Amino acid sequence: MSETYEFVVVANRLPVDEVVGADGGRSWARSPGGLVSALQPIVRGHGGAWVGWTGQPGDAPEPFDTDGMHLHPVGLSEDDVDRYYEGQSNGTIWPLFHDAVEQPTHRRPWRQAYESVNRRFAEAAAQLTAVDGTVWVHDYQLMLVPAMLRELRPDLRIGFFLHIPFPPVELFMQLPRRAELLRGLLGADLVGFQRPLAAQNFLQLTGRLLGLDPQEQHVEYDGRTVTARAFPISIDVAEVEKLAADPDVQAEARRMRHELGGDRRLLLGVDRLDYTKGIEQRLEAYGELLADGTVSNDDVVLVQVATPSRMRVQEYQELRARVEHQVGRINGEFGAVGQAPVHYLFQSMNRAELVALYLAADVMVITPLRDGMNLVAKEYVAARYDDQGALVLSEFAGAAAELTTAFQVNPHDVEDIKRALMDALNADAGEQAERMRPMRDQVRDHDIDRWAQDFLTALGKS
Ligand code: ADP
Ligand code: G6P
Repeated sequence: MSETYEFVVVANRLPVDEVVGADGGRSWARSPGGLVSALQPIVRGHGGAWVGWTGQPGDAPEPFDTDGMHLHPVGLSEDDVDRYYEGQSNGTIWPLFHDAVEQPTHRRPWRQAYESVNRRFAEAAAQLTAVDGTVWVHDYQLMLVPAMLRELRPDLRIGFFLHIPFPPVELFMQLPRRAELLRGLLGADLVGFQRPLAAQNFLQLTGRLLGLDPQEQHVEYDGRTVTARAFPISIDVAEVEKLAADPDVQAEARRMRHELGGDRRLLLGVDRLDYTKGIEQRLEAYGELLADGTVSNDDVVLVQVATPSRMRVQEYQELRARVEHQVGRINGEFGAVGQAPVHYLFQSMNRAELVALYLAADVMVITPLRDGMNLVAKEYVAARYDDQGALVLSEFAGAAAELTTAFQVNPHDVEDIKRALMDALNADAGEQAERMRPMRDQVRDHDIDRWAQDFLTALGKS
């Protein structure tokens, strides 16, 4: 029998992405997104296994060990990528669970592919996990896995964590085969969410759709007790602090500031290029401040880093076109030769470069229309060992519940974004420190290790 593991994480993506170069050569790079940022230190720390996809269509490469983790690839065909990943996961569930800020699409073949790919993930986890071991399933792409896995391996402890918001009851009710998704999640012993309201929505739905009788944080199902609770996710604070203390990173931050124009104040946005992130609203607010003369290209500059994401999905291509048009318009209208009001970077960065940007930024601007947590907000705070800098943060990011001294903003209201940007730019060093200190304390006390420990303890992992 092949080797088995006490602790197995199952997520759509592996922590590394297979990259195919122009010459057809293959290499590995860090995968995009907050899920990977958060889970990698945990799996490494437990010496666990990770079941996931490589990011490329085709047969799965052989399992391999890297960085203290055992990676077990699951293959997705072109059709699977099309229907399960881009379709049901990112064309149906992702928009619906983010308040339907884009219209969700419902297609039967997508649902069928979602089910068959979920089964493949469950089978891989069932083979890889030791007797009485623990499996932790992650995120909206794999909501049927807990029940499928339980059927195959009733001996396991099974946890599930949803990294994105769980929608209000009325929105969830729109999903075709909605009861099946609930049953899928109820296969877990513990279902974790970012916010308490999400757990309540889920429990309420078990009553409404399955006729169960949920109590505060529990529901009896199929002779078992399933617990549903909030576990707000966090970051590897030590990693960010170490980079922020590195003299090379600090020198890079100074160099960036200098190159962007000496004493121009720096506004920073760092997001996957996703329609949930409110990038257009942010640019609109900034453009209006330039247009009405409240700020000038001589005094401020906005750096917007947009990580390429899901670029084969039409909504993402359209978003890219709109954002790039907006950037071009603002730079065309308000720029000068050699001095642009927006620096737009459509690319991935390494961790050191990101932290250098955090250190360089006077104002971090995070305006999602809806976001499960938003780890960038926590990374910015963790990097600011100097207690300086200001955070403009959407009320609709999960992080807003913890980072209460940020300049909070309603991202649907462009006037409100303008107000928050100006308040942040006008905050003196004393106010910046007063706001930053409690946020730093919160993030340092609640880092990713504590999050995982809280979850795994509640799951009863020994
Ligand atoms: P999401 O999971 O929706 O992408 P989060 O803010 O929770 O949003 O997490 C994003 C993660 O990706 C963070 O850890 C952040 O540092 C990282 N990240 C964001 N932009 C880039 C980039 N351009 N290059 C590399 N990493 C990035
Ligand atoms: C968010 C999701 C993750 C996802 C990541 C990147 O963080 O919660 O599940 O992995 O975005 O998206 P992608 O589609 O590239 O995996």
